[in-house]
Amino acid sequence: MTFSIRPLASGAIGLAVLGFVACSYNEAGPPELHASVKSAGPRPAPREPEPVALAAAPRQGAPSRYADNYQQQIADHAARMLEEGRHTFRFDTFGSEDFWGGQLRLHEALAGEKLGGVGSGVSPKAALEAGLKVDADAIPPDLAGKIKAGQVNLDDPATTAELLKLNAVVGVTGFFNERGQLRSMGIQCALCHSTVDDSFMPGIGKRLDGWANRDLNVGAIVAMAPNLKPLVDLLGVDEPTVKTVLNSWGPGRYDAELNMDGKGVRPDGKTAATLMPSAFGLAGVNNHTWTGGWGTVTYWNAYVANTQMHGKGTFIDERLSDAARYPVAAKAGYGQKRDEVDLITAKLAALQFYQLAMPTPKAPEGSYDTVMASRGEALFNGTAKCAQCHVPPLFTEPGSNLHKASDIGIDDFQANRGPAKMYVTTPLRALFDAQKLHRHGFYHDGRFATLEEIIDHYNQHFRLQLSDEQKRDLLEYLKSI
Ligand code: HEC
Ligand code: HEC
Repeated sequence: MTFSIRPLASGAIGLAVLGFVACSYNEAGPPELHASVKSAGPRPAPREPEPVALAAAPRQGAPSRYADNYQQQIADHAARMLEEGRHTFRFDTFGSEDFWGGQLRLHEALAGEKLGGVGSGVSPKAALEAGLKVDADAIPPDLAGKIKAGQVNLDDPATTAELLKLNAVVGVTGFFNERGQLRSMGIQCALCHSTVDDSFMPGIGKRLDGWANRDLNVGAIVAMAPNLKPLVDLLGVDEPTVKTVLNSWGPGRYDAELNMDGKGVRPDGKTAATLMPSAFGLAGVNNHTWTGGWGTVTYWNAYVANTQMHGKGTFIDERLSDAARYPVAAKAGYGQKRDEVDLITAKLAALQFYQLAMPTPKAPEGSYDTVMASRGEALFNGTAKCAQCHVPPLFTEPGSNLHKASDIGIDDFQANRGPAKMYVTTPLRALFDAQKLHRHGFYHDGRFATLEEIIDHYNQHFRLQLSDEQKRDLLEYLKSI
């Protein structure tokens, strides 16, 4: 392909190609330039380039039919994608209410007998204890005032229903009938991948999209459902076993492969569930999730929306038709899931865009010792060999970021559940936040309770022979990431 470049009257488009022009213009000279000569010979000293435009401009001074306004189109598109993606991430149930409400009847357990459901219902207090979060911005000021003044009964499941009506429960949408009764419920990405800043009170505050909700006990919540038969049938085990597995997860954990391979327990008897990761800081990262080989962010979004949230859509991955590795998925037909309506596929682009836009939260000033951290940084990139895999600033490998379990000195149970039988080099993010994000520890299953334990593990595994002082410096650097 050849495209010619000629002087331009209007500045904006000229700027867009400036990078290209700045080096190639001088070599070939105006006004015509072929892309093929771009890299010929040693470069003369750069001089001020003159603004130029793509050949699409029909004549000098007239706007190009193709390029005109394209920068603006990109900017508008980005803003729209961000907005749409945020909306999907926070509010879209993808039709999952047919499963959580329609089949499991989980909303009946939330409402309780008095409100037409079953059991005692879930009060706001109990919901907050189970790790559900409330979006303070969705609470009208008068109600907020009453809650602050202690005039709202937080022990009454009716209040939970009111909060659902206000769309204030993060990641859960309630559906109500004309009489105002809760008749169904669906879930969103935000359920597991958002928390709040607790600015109103613990569990109630401004949304923090992308921050893993490591307080949330999904298993215990699902186990409350009056009808677990769909899960019993899917997993092919009895109801007590389903309940035991769900209740074994605990807060901050979920098992996104259970309904693929049917493995609820590890060989050591502990739960097979993993920590819920954060969804921020993933731009530029190749393989996703704890175990490698599933795919990119958008692969995983389609996987989760279709097979975990039980939304309605289309999902295709022949690997899941392998009955030897993924017997549950093969039986359920997850390898070729084509629902009558598709409420997912059209939302994937913006959803991915929004996630990639989420930055890693920065360590608060004063939360680490800067002098020690700068010595620690040198260790991280040198003696301690961390940057061999955690390459800054992505803190994972640009390129293939997968490792055998033996590379990092741990067992391969979880790795073997993923298609690649590997672990992903976790892109290190927001390691300072020991209270919220890392309260259940580090690595896919939280096996290392603290960063100190991780450093000791690597010190031993890689025979680094770090001194106590070096370990302390490295720790301060990790806290700064
Ligand atoms: C019920 C809880 C839950 C819900 C709902 C959920 N996820 Fe996840 N998500 C997880 C868990 C657990 C993992 C880790 C899975 C693994 O590695 O096996 C994960 C992994 C991810 C990852 C990879 C993170 C990383 O560090 O590589 C992304 C991105 C993600 N989820 C986005 C989403 C989006 C978008 C949605 C909505 C379509 C969603 N999730 C819904 C629990 C959930
Ligand atoms: C051979 C590649 C490799 C090297 C070298 C390496 N890591 Fe890792 N790191 C990994 C992998 C893979 C994981 C994910 C393990 C898992 O999820 O179970 C990980 C996970 C971590 C985590 C947990 C992050 C989280 O959010 O749970 C931390 C912290 C970490 N590494 C720090 C370090 C430090 C510090 C060093 C140097 C002393 C280091 N790593 C060296 C591959 C490596």
